[in-house]
Amino acid sequence: MPRVLVVHGSPHAYESSGASVVEFLVAQIHAVWPTVEVVHRLLSASEIILPSAAYATAVLDRAANDSSVFELSETLIGELESCDLLIIATPMHNFTVPAALKAWIDYVLLINRTFDATPTGKIGRLNDRPVFVVVTSGGFHQGERANQADFLSDYLRYALQTVGVKSIKFVYLQGMAYGENAASSAITEGIKCIQSLIPELLKQQERDCTSV
Ligand SMILES: Cc1cc2nc3c(=O)[nH]c(=O)nc-3n(C[C@H](O)[C@H](O)[C@H](O)COP(=O)(O)O)c2cc1C
Repeated sequence: MPRVLVVHGSPHAYESSGASVVEFLVAQIHAVWPTVEVVHRLLSASEIILPSAAYATAVLDRAANDSSVFELSETLIGELESCDLLIIATPMHNFTVPAALKAWIDYVLLINRTFDATPTGKIGRLNDRPVFVVVTSGGFHQGERANQADFLSDYLRYALQTVGVKSIKFVYLQGMAYGENAASSAITEGIKCIQSLIPELLKQQERDCTSV
């Protein structure tokens, strides 16, 4: 059974400003893969804890991967490893990913587990899989109206590529703080963007099926 993992970076989780677009995306994926199982990983404050001193020490000391200090890491990595498609729904917070999503990255990018460090750079151990990143932002950081830096997109792409996950598409819902009309037209544009990306996902799914 194909599995989709939805990582919710917003503190608002299911109530986030991009929730309807994420729901639309999940519904489209259901249409492509009717038997899909959808797993939700919420990263709001009560759901995720920042890496502890014990965790940081264990990473630096290269503690065994089955050490109890890596329990949360293993859970999050397991969810990522077992998904066929990853959706990350995240707001932009101060030009980059919110702290909770950064904590998820700190747990998932684990040396000698999800990547190897070599003299020529880090090499991911996970298989590639399609990723949709739905980014909500109060203002504009892409296109003609951009007036702030985007340290989110390249950073998130680089972090995922480090573990081997490379097929990443971004859907931007910008101007969410510019009133109801702006927010609803951002949602309409986001849905259009997803509709344009689904045929490629279908092709990829056909390729995966025929290569089994
Ligand atoms: C702590 C914080 C920092 C933010 N930083 C930015 C920012 O750098 N750029 C921006 O355009 N919007 C910023 N925003 C606005 C959010 O990105 C915007 O409200 C978004 O729609 C929230 O989406 P959500 O409902 O998915 O959490 C920030 C909001 C918060 C709470």
